[in-house]
Amino acid sequence: MNGLNRRRMLLVGGGALGALSLAVPARAGSGPGADPRWVWDEGADPLVASLIDRGDVPKVNTLLKTWTRNDLPLPDGLPPDLRAFMTKARRPPPWADQSTLEAAADFHRTKAFYLDLLNGPGNGILSTAIPKEARAVHYSKGGADMNDRVAKTSLFGFAVGSLNGYRPAGKAVVTSVKTRLVHAAVRHLLPQSPHWARTGGGEIPISQNDMLVTWHTLPTYVMRKLIEWRVPMTTAQTGAYLHLWHVTAHMLGIRDEYIPATWAAADAQSDQVLPPAMGPTREGVSLTDTLLGMLSEQTSPGRLNRPMVNALSRYLVGDQVADWNGIPREPVWDPLVRSAFPKLVAFREKLVPLPLVPEIAWVIEEAARAYILFYLTKGQPVGIDIPEINRPT
Ligand code: HEM
Repeated sequence: MNGLNRRRMLLVGGGALGALSLAVPARAGSGPGADPRWVWDEGADPLVASLIDRGDVPKVNTLLKTWTRNDLPLPDGLPPDLRAFMTKARRPPPWADQSTLEAAADFHRTKAFYLDLLNGPGNGILSTAIPKEARAVHYSKGGADMNDRVAKTSLFGFAVGSLNGYRPAGKAVVTSVKTRLVHAAVRHLLPQSPHWARTGGGEIPISQNDMLVTWHTLPTYVMRKLIEWRVPMTTAQTGAYLHLWHVTAHMLGIRDEYIPATWAAADAQSDQVLPPAMGPTREGVSLTDTLLGMLSEQTSPGRLNRPMVNALSRYLVGDQVADWNGIPREPVWDPLVRSAFPKLVAFREKLVPLPLVPEIAWVIEEAARAYILFYLTKGQPVGIDIPEINRPT
């Protein structure tokens, strides 16, 4: 019986694993069919735990600072077990198609404004409404320095989306493999945190299911917004964008059997895994407040302010998530953004002439650009380090 059928059976049968087994066509369509809530990353986890336990992490982090481009050889001096793992992990999957990845990069270039806005600030705010992730971030080493954390995370979307993401001179492979190592470290470290034991139930974080949840706050969320905003797209473009995120899911250690094969499957899986994984937390409110504070500082004084930032954020993530995250309602700005943003999109896509665009749309565009710039500038110079401790208290 192949894995997909087995998963379907589990779902229908409602066995112990059935309730949350994924019932959508997967990228590779086969696999052992285990419930993704109880699967982590068997390649990376024991290896990184051992690096931490034997004190190799500082040396490895220093060496990996020089590994910054997809085409660079792995640095000399890495522990042999890590080198063997990374040699395998850096290889794109056999089903990756370079010309489709090129098409995805081209799609990114033409739609950069929306994609950067949604992948950067949009995803940043959404992910703080995933209690498990918000707590995991809050109690991990990087949670102590939100500024640094935002910068590092934003690197990801840009490395993947940039024009040469998966080309030899790009960074998508490097960033994904490093992130896989960081996540493996977090799985080893967080269960040792007393705060995590208290708020996270002490379980091992970042399961395959958790990874899928976050994955859907990236491409699935983005695609839904592009459709909602009526951004014109061809089937070839949306297909290429999905392929880009298929490859990225694989590079992040998500098993092929769980990766949704089509947009319809992604929608179905998103509806299945996201609602139970989202909600309000104290940590999410605090992370969002820090994030929006930093964003409003970024905007030019006098013209754009925190109410405007609040309204644009609410528009990006919707009322439910905005309310969970404690984003205040803005009686003046909320309706303005709601009515002007679609007109801005229509103008940008050459669907309406300039006179139909209200003046306020340009203020909104300026704020959106400031958001993006914030992510881009903060995101550039930092590297991704494997943590060896939790958040110091
Ligand atoms: C670290 C991306 C899923 C929790 C990172 C980093 C990146 C990243 C780029 C490295 C940046 C840094 O060092 O701060 C992603 C992507 C995901 C994903 C693209 C899925 C598609 C998750 C999930 C969780 C999680 C599901 C938790 C439930 C963390 C934590 C760190 C981290 C705790 C380390 C923070 C620190 O101590 O600095 N992630 N992540 N991530 N991620 Fe993820």
